[in-house]
Amino acid sequence: MAQATRSNRYVGASQRLEAVGQEHILRFYEALSPAEQTALLDQVQSVDWQEVGRLIQTHVKRVPTVELPQRLEPPAYYPYRPGPELAEKYEQARRLGERLISEGRVAAFTVAGGQGTRLGWDAPKGTFPATPIRNTPLFGVFAEYLRKVQSKYRVRIPWYVMTSPLNDAATRAFFQEHRYFGLEPDQVMLFPQGMMPAIDRQTAKVLMEDRGRMALSPNGHGGSLKALHDSGALADMRQRGVEHISYIQVDNPCVKVIDPLFIGLHALDEAQMSSKMLPKAYPEEKLGVFCKVDGRIAVIEYSDLPQELAQQREAGGQLRFRAGSIAIHAIRVDFVESLNAGEGFRLPFHRAEKKVPYLDLETGRRVEPASPNAVKLETFVFDALPLCNVSIIYETDRVEEFAPIKNAEGVDSPQTSRDLQVERAARWLEASGVRVPRDAEGKVQATIEIQPTTAIEPADLQGVKLPAQIEPGSQVLL
Ligand code: UD1
Repeated sequence: MAQATRSNRYVGASQRLEAVGQEHILRFYEALSPAEQTALLDQVQSVDWQEVGRLIQTHVKRVPTVELPQRLEPPAYYPYRPGPELAEKYEQARRLGERLISEGRVAAFTVAGGQGTRLGWDAPKGTFPATPIRNTPLFGVFAEYLRKVQSKYRVRIPWYVMTSPLNDAATRAFFQEHRYFGLEPDQVMLFPQGMMPAIDRQTAKVLMEDRGRMALSPNGHGGSLKALHDSGALADMRQRGVEHISYIQVDNPCVKVIDPLFIGLHALDEAQMSSKMLPKAYPEEKLGVFCKVDGRIAVIEYSDLPQELAQQREAGGQLRFRAGSIAIHAIRVDFVESLNAGEGFRLPFHRAEKKVPYLDLETGRRVEPASPNAVKLETFVFDALPLCNVSIIYETDRVEEFAPIKNAEGVDSPQTSRDLQVERAARWLEASGVRVPRDAEGKVQATIEIQPTTAIEPADLQGVKLPAQIEPGSQVLL
């Protein structure tokens, strides 16, 4: 019976693959064990071959040209500190955000399906030790943040974590091993995102990892908008009464996992999907840039923004296109539902050339390429912004909220992240009257870590017993 089903599936799979010139995927099918055969058929079934066939023509056989819209303008945004005309609105927004949080209408969502190759950490990125004294892993930092939000607002916050089939088991095991960092297991929902095959740049054939396995990789964080639906996470949110999703990446230990002011501004303006931005420090900084195109918000990749526009300055000297995307969003649940309704939706695919090890089917040898041999195809979550009728942007502060860990060394590394975490902790303490030692350049001369369960914003330090001053060279954990 199992064999009959398998051979039916085989026929279907080979027809689908032949139609797009990828029949080599089943070349060694007969030589595989029944379990391997089933696994390969499952893999084939998980891919939308019509789409792959189309993308091979448009994104693999040629490099798609990015056509920038004619009318590209800088978007309006809410400033980090409101002027007098906005002060009241910010207060109202913060109150609304706090109400939505305390009524359980806001869920946290972390995209953690990436492969994190640049960091060279051989485990899910969320397991990376991030904080300066305790070495708390990124997932632990977010969990502690949520515990603080829960105790402040007397509510239980559901937390959704998107993994990929490559790191799902390891991520689950990590959460179990750490007893969900003090959260209840039933408030943490993990689900894997979709995958796409890696395709040989030269031959336009899907690469095989092994005789019975394609080389698949996560389909980009844009895949989260579909995975939220397919996994049942959206339905679960509905059932729990969640209306807004606080979307964060896994790499930033300083992120406000849930920010009442941002959620409030987004809700007050009835936006479908909103974003936080940081003013770019310099024109070449590698941040996608928010633009306004035909009245809608869009993010243009830094590599696609012409030099001339990236360099433009306003009369006051500020960069004209300065609103850099740091991948923090507030998204309405009903917006994601509407995207997935009916025929569904399509985000544009982006082409990336990567080194992907593979099995050479002719020689039977494994190849570790020295230069990029493959095209990977990914969608990006910010490409949903132009689908919104209303989308707001809110400015945040670099030290307060952006200390990403991306590279093993240099910019956006564990070291720069730790330095920023210490700087932020120092600022919070100084605001409470604590004397913090700094050198001539202003660099903090101590290691300070404030646990999220102690404070997630400076005001939380009121009522906490603080030292009058911090000794140079000391380690202070609060
Ligand atoms: C990203 C943004 C960039 C932004 C920067 C801020 C893109 C293309 N670029 O860059 O505009 O300025 O963050 O820090 O997004 N992920 C998945 N599934 C995937 C791919 C990624 O869940 O298939 C997750 C990762 O786990 C991570 C996040 O998405 O949490 C970012 O992924 P990454 O590819 O590292 O983006 P960056 O290049 O750092």
